[in-house]
Amino acid sequence: MSDNSRPLRVAIVGAGPAGIYAADALMKSDTAKDRGVSIDLFERMPAPFGLIRYGVAPDHPRIKGIITALHKVLDKPQVRLLGNVDYGTDITLADLKKHYDAVIFSTGATDDRSLDIPGIDLEGSYGAAQFVAWYDGHPDFPRTWPLDAEKVAVIGVGNVALDVARVLAKTGDELLPTEIPDNVYQGLKANKAVEVHVFGRRGPAQAKFTPLELKELDHSPNIEVIVNPEDIEYDEGSAVARRGSKITDQVATIIENYAIREPKQGAIHKLFLHFFESPVEILGENGKVVGLRTERTELDGTGNVKPTGKFTDWEVGAVYRAVGYLSDNLPEIPFDAQAGVIPNEAGRVFDEGEQLIGIYTTGWIKRGPVGLIGHTKGDANETVDCILKDMEAGKLNEPAEPGEDAVVELLESKNIPYTTWDGWYRLDEHERALGAAEGRERIKVVEREDMLAASEPHKVARPSA
Ligand SMILES: Cc1cc2nc3c(=O)[nH]c(=O)nc-3n(C[C@H](O)[C@H](O)[C@H](O)COP(=O)(O)OP(=O)(O)OC[C@H]3O[C@@H](n4cnc5c(N)ncnc54)[C@H](O)[C@@H]3O)c2cc1C
Ligand SMILES: NC(=O)c1ccc[n+]([C@@H]2O[C@H](COP(=O)([O-])OP(=O)(O)OC[C@H]3O[C@@H](n4cnc5c(N)ncnc54)[C@H](OP(=O)(O)O)[C@@H]3O)[C@@H](O)[C@H]2O)c1
Repeated sequence: MSDNSRPLRVAIVGAGPAGIYAADALMKSDTAKDRGVSIDLFERMPAPFGLIRYGVAPDHPRIKGIITALHKVLDKPQVRLLGNVDYGTDITLADLKKHYDAVIFSTGATDDRSLDIPGIDLEGSYGAAQFVAWYDGHPDFPRTWPLDAEKVAVIGVGNVALDVARVLAKTGDELLPTEIPDNVYQGLKANKAVEVHVFGRRGPAQAKFTPLELKELDHSPNIEVIVNPEDIEYDEGSAVARRGSKITDQVATIIENYAIREPKQGAIHKLFLHFFESPVEILGENGKVVGLRTERTELDGTGNVKPTGKFTDWEVGAVYRAVGYLSDNLPEIPFDAQAGVIPNEAGRVFDEGEQLIGIYTTGWIKRGPVGLIGHTKGDANETVDCILKDMEAGKLNEPAEPGEDAVVELLESKNIPYTTWDGWYRLDEHERALGAAEGRERIKVVEREDMLAASEPHKVARPSA
């Protein structure tokens, strides 16, 4: 039975939007008023905010601005950020069970889903997640990116494909006013791509784009969006989908408009949106990508497609697959590899049909890597509801050492240079100062050591003897 005479102690692993919204929901609950809550937010990066910092495209400052709203949550005294702490390396499940009534895993997704076609491992074949991490200045990815192909293919017609295609088709100078670090600006400035070809295996009514992002492609004076009118095809399934969703209908209409309009004058880069082309092989010579083979598909009446046996070879020097993200399997936590999620019911974690007492999940690792930042709020509310109901039912973990100091002492005993919320303010100020010196809002710090130095971690590991 959880000890009601002290605040409810909750650990949240992963300080992306899902984890932060879970902290918010806990602090807004009646339990917070009646008994009090005390939350520790563990994050493997020195800075919080997950994919808002390391996924959202740099030319989307309005979305990056959601960080300002999340500040209000992390400013609250009931929540502590413990950054630069990796679950599985720096802290274990046994550690968490020793100190908390409940643990929420909100570790999101960082990898690319695989695409099992011949040639996928050729030099010049990349996962979108890797490229995104590079241009968003993630410290754990290489500093340089080969951008020497004049023609590039992007597989997939979701918003990540749009981000990747747009960043490849814009000029480095267009992206300079954003927060991109210098190595990324230099890389993009040297980018040789003049044609970007985006491939959807189904039709315009099956594209996963959102209307705003699709229209935005056209805002760049350097990008001409081109759609072949022959790719505008619908069947009964498509008509039903368009009638059932305003977004689907708007997306299809925008694609139709791209197909019929006059050529855009002055745009130096062409961005082709191809539909009904399913990737079957990445073509290589001497180990390097030289093309992409697709098979033409056609609608089968239900909105799905069937192959036609007609193949096209597209001459491209690089292929990016943007076919979805994939979550990591966390140590000691069950994982459904097929669905790429922690098996759960409404956020309660289950292992082979049995609820794991005190263990919960939320966000992309709870329901798979789809949906916008705002959707993680609903996830978090549902998960927190379960925790509070389980608390009422006396079904939480019983920690041996629930005191707030104990976990900090543990991190210090392990010499982990953990960052704090104050540290984020210092890093934030430092990045803004770097930007101000060049008339920009912010320049992102990339190197982990530099992030740590600016954050002034609570304890710096002693150099080994
Ligand atoms: C490229 C890209 C662009 C996007 N752009 C937009 C957009 O413009 N607008 C929009 O609304 N949505 C956008 N999204 C979707 C949005 O990013 C997600 O809906 C949201 O980030 C999911 O939140 P999350 O907290 O579940 O996961 P994440 O944001 O991935 O957060 C998970 C956190 O857990 C941490 N973590 C992982 N493993 C560990 C560990 N072992 N120990 C400690 N910490 C760990 C990670 O470092 C990360 O900080 C985009 C997604 C992608 C992939
Ligand atoms: N600006 C923004 O708001 C923004 C930016 C980025 C991401 N996001 C969000 O983040 C989430 C993830 O985005 P995402 O683009 O990674 O995923 P997504 O929306 O699920 O799109 C994945 C795309 O890959 C295609 N695909 C999958 N397997 C394929 C295969 N074997 N061959 C060819 N194509 C294949 C899918 O086609 P099928 O439909 O045919 O399977 C689909 O077009 C989405 O909810 C997205 O809206 C938002």
